[in-house]
Amino acid sequence: MNWGMKNRISRIIKPKTGRCVMLAVDHGYFQGPTTGLSRLGETVEPLLPYADALMITRGAIRNWIDPAADIPIILRVSGGISILKELSNEVITTCIEDAIRINASAITCSVYVGGEFEKETIENLSKLVDEGEKYGIPVLAVTAVGKEMARDARYLGLASRICVEIGAHIIKTYYTEDFGKVVEACGNVPVVIAGGKKLPELEALQMAFDAVSNGANGVDMGRNIFQSDRPVGMIKAVRAIVHDNKPVDEAFEIYKSS
Ligand code: 5RP
Repeated sequence: MNWGMKNRISRIIKPKTGRCVMLAVDHGYFQGPTTGLSRLGETVEPLLPYADALMITRGAIRNWIDPAADIPIILRVSGGISILKELSNEVITTCIEDAIRINASAITCSVYVGGEFEKETIENLSKLVDEGEKYGIPVLAVTAVGKEMARDARYLGLASRICVEIGAHIIKTYYTEDFGKVVEACGNVPVVIAGGKKLPELEALQMAFDAVSNGANGVDMGRNIFQSDRPVGMIKAVRAIVHDNKPVDEAFEIYKSS
């Protein structure tokens, strides 16, 4: 791995703990104005001091994020689909030169193993890895789950391992029973979990705790933070679990008291 690649990964996954709290706000690229993200800038601004990185599209960053913000960017560069159609039919929407102009610390696309356009999404990932390797920009692969697919260790392990074999530098997947098997399938490649649909705060914190206890390097969480009644409390609580190994009850107190 070249110096630039290592440096960019270190900006996201903090060397002190080997962990990270990514804040995902890229939902609009296929969901439109998702609850909590209509005025994306207002939602994100108070959360930035507690996030290690921001997962976002180029359009959202230019509209709503101050270029002076001191936050590593994980740039969503795939899209071309909406919730109204087949989700796996993604293309690459942003070229590597634009990712460099934005000063992205990583680029990301979704891979739909088992989806109608499985091959095309794996091809998207392989092209991004080739481009990323050229310029020292790591690629985060999202193991997206089609409507009919089970989010179990067998499926997520299959999808994650395929992304590793294609060359992804970070894997984003979902927490599931037997999560350790998913992490094992990824070898030395760091793994983070998505939060998924909004859960009660205690459950979301338990999921973050279980994920890091079973080998995840952290979270790339969106709705369970920005759709919470106390988004700042929630991101602080998630941070306490991810970086400080706090138990769930202590983290829940942090959420409630913020
Ligand atoms: C969609 C994504 C989103 O970033 C991710 O799913 C959002 O996080 P959350 O599920 O926690 O809201 O990658 O494919």
